[in-house]
Amino acid sequence: MFFPTGSHKENGLDFNPLKAIVAPRPIGWISSISKDGIHNLAPYSFFNAVSDTPAMVAFSASPSGGGHKDSVKNIEDTGDFVVNIVSAALLDAMNMSSAGVAADISEFDTANLTPAPSQLVSSPYVAEAPCYLECKLWKILDLPSAADGTYNKLVIGEVVGIGIDDALITDAGKIDVTRFKPAARLGYKDYAIIDKVFELSRPDD
Ligand SMILES: Cc1cc2nc3c(=O)[nH]c(=O)nc-3n(C[C@H](O)[C@H](O)[C@H](O)COP(=O)(O)O)c2cc1C
Repeated sequence: MFFPTGSHKENGLDFNPLKAIVAPRPIGWISSISKDGIHNLAPYSFFNAVSDTPAMVAFSASPSGGGHKDSVKNIEDTGDFVVNIVSAALLDAMNMSSAGVAADISEFDTANLTPAPSQLVSSPYVAEAPCYLECKLWKILDLPSAADGTYNKLVIGEVVGIGIDDALITDAGKIDVTRFKPAARLGYKDYAIIDKVFELSRPDD
């Protein structure tokens, strides 16, 4: 099967398959703070680490209610955010934090999570998260507009600090992801949990 983007329905696919094809995607669970001091938390799976040195991450936010999502507005105002990692145990809380709530309500409260003060940025991190990345905003890019004139915003940040639960670090000084089992997003309503890992050396290693 092949079809030009956008014509999936004419080709027998009820849903756009893009997110089921680019899968699994890590979930950037983005915490931020508004200029009025309200803590915000929301998952973004158009998310990834995009470079190692300097360490950079990016996520994109779709338009919302004629404007843009609270995470983007907060990051524009404060210039920082935190990426929290979603363990299998936090899957329900992550899902709860995706509900659209008014900007003056904190998803930390609705999802029953604890905001903890970060060291290098103003945004809080999720105390229950296994790992988190404190990030300073580098740039927000406006992605191309759709036919209706709306557009997504790509938020790119530099990772300036890394927090890890010490219990996840092995004697060899590595992070053992099987100790927290990160959640990943697939297409539709599907998720995956990483609970098995194997090594593969490169040909010239
Ligand atoms: C697993 C998951 C991944 C999501 N990924 C994205 C995404 O990449 N971009 C986006 O705009 N919304 C995404 N959403 C929806 C947002 O989390 C949701 O719109 C949220 O209310 C935004 O909150 P905010 O306005 O506080 O930023 C995702 C939701 C879930 C459950």
